[in-house]
Amino acid sequence: MDTKFIKLPDPEGMRMAGRVIREGGLVAFPTETVYGLGGDAFDPEASAKIYAAKGRPSDNPLIVHIADMESLERLSSEIPEQLYALADSFWPGPLTMIVKKRPEVPDRTTGGLDTVAIRMPDHPAALELIREAGGYIAAPSANASGRPSPTLASHVLEDLGGRIEVILDGGEVGIGVESTIVDLTGEKIQILRPGYVTAQMLERVVGHVELDPAIAGPPAAGVRPKAPGMMYRHYAPKGDMMIVRGEGAADYICQKLGECSGKAAVLCCDESRDRYPAEKAVIKSLGSLQRPEEAALKLYRVLRELDSEGVSLIYSESFPDTGIGEALMNRMMKAAGYKVIEA
Ligand code: TXA
Ligand code: MG
Repeated sequence: MDTKFIKLPDPEGMRMAGRVIREGGLVAFPTETVYGLGGDAFDPEASAKIYAAKGRPSDNPLIVHIADMESLERLSSEIPEQLYALADSFWPGPLTMIVKKRPEVPDRTTGGLDTVAIRMPDHPAALELIREAGGYIAAPSANASGRPSPTLASHVLEDLGGRIEVILDGGEVGIGVESTIVDLTGEKIQILRPGYVTAQMLERVVGHVELDPAIAGPPAAGVRPKAPGMMYRHYAPKGDMMIVRGEGAADYICQKLGECSGKAAVLCCDESRDRYPAEKAVIKSLGSLQRPEEAALKLYRVLRELDSEGVSLIYSESFPDTGIGEALMNRMMKAAGYKVIEA
C-alpha cells in the first residue's frame, strides 16, 4: 500500500483523510500526547485493520476519540456524574475515561469488554479529523506493537509506512507520554495508567482516587492490570535496559561502562551529563531535573535513537516520580522490564 504523507496544515488533505476513515481506511494523526492510528470506531473491520497494522493482540481494547460532549450519547447510556466533572476540568486533554458501553459499540473496538475508553484530545488537527471522519475515531498509539509510542510523524512512517493509507504530520507532539486512564465503572475511581493528569489533579475534582495495584510493580502471577495493554512488555528498546538509582548511581554506571564490551548508552539528566565518559558510551540527556515535562517529551524519541544507533546495553538514571514524573518513571520501568539496581 502507498502511504500518503501529508504535512499540516493542509485543508484539502484533512478532508481527504476524513473521507479515508469514513470509507474504512486508517489515518495516523497527531494528538497532544502521542501520534494515534485512527479508524472509524463503529466499523469493526476498521478496528481489525488497526490491530493488523500494529501487530497488536486483538484483546487489547482501543480508545474512542471524540470532539464534543454530544458524542458521548452514542457510546454509553450510563455516564456517571464524575465524567462530566472531570471533562469540565480536563477535556479536551490527556485524560481517558472508561464507562459502560452501549451494545452498538463494536466488540472489536473494545477488545470484547463491556466498557469503552473515551478521550477528547487537545489538538486542533485531531479534533478536525474526528469531525471530518464522522465523530468517532478508535485510535491506539501509532507505533508497531512493542515499540515506543511515536512523538513525531517520522516515527509513524518508520513503523507503519506501507501499512496504512495516510499519515498526517503535525510536527512534534506536546506531552510525549500517553494519556492518563481512569476507570469510572467501579465503586472507587481507579487510575489504570498514569499520565500527564496526575492523581492529585484528579482528586481536586472528584475526591479520592486509587492506583490500580497491578501496575505499581512488575507483572505478577494472578494480578491482572485492568487495562489489558499495561500487561504487555511495551516501549521496549532493542538494547537491554536497567535503571540505576541512589546516591552512587553515576559512579556505578561509570564503573560498569569500563567493564563492558558491547555498545552501551547512558540515559541521564543535564546536571549529571558531564560525569559520564563520552568515549565509552552514547550519552543521552533527557534534559534538566528542573523540567520533568521535557524528560517526558524526550523519552520515546531517545529510546528510538538508541535503537537506530545499535546500542545493546542501556544504563538509565532514575528521575523524581512526582507530577508528570510518575508517568515518566512508569514508562521507563516498563522499558527496563522493571530491572532496577540500587547503588
Ligand atoms: O494518549 C493516548 O491515550 C494515545 C493517543 C493516541 O490518544 N492512545 C493510546 O492508546 O495510548 P493505546 O491503545 O496505545 O493505549 C490504550 C490503553 C491500553 O492499555 C488499553 O488496554 C487500555 O487503554 N484500554 C482501552 N480501553 C479499555 C477499557 N475499556 N478498559 C480497560 N482498559 C482499556
Ligand atoms: Mg500504545
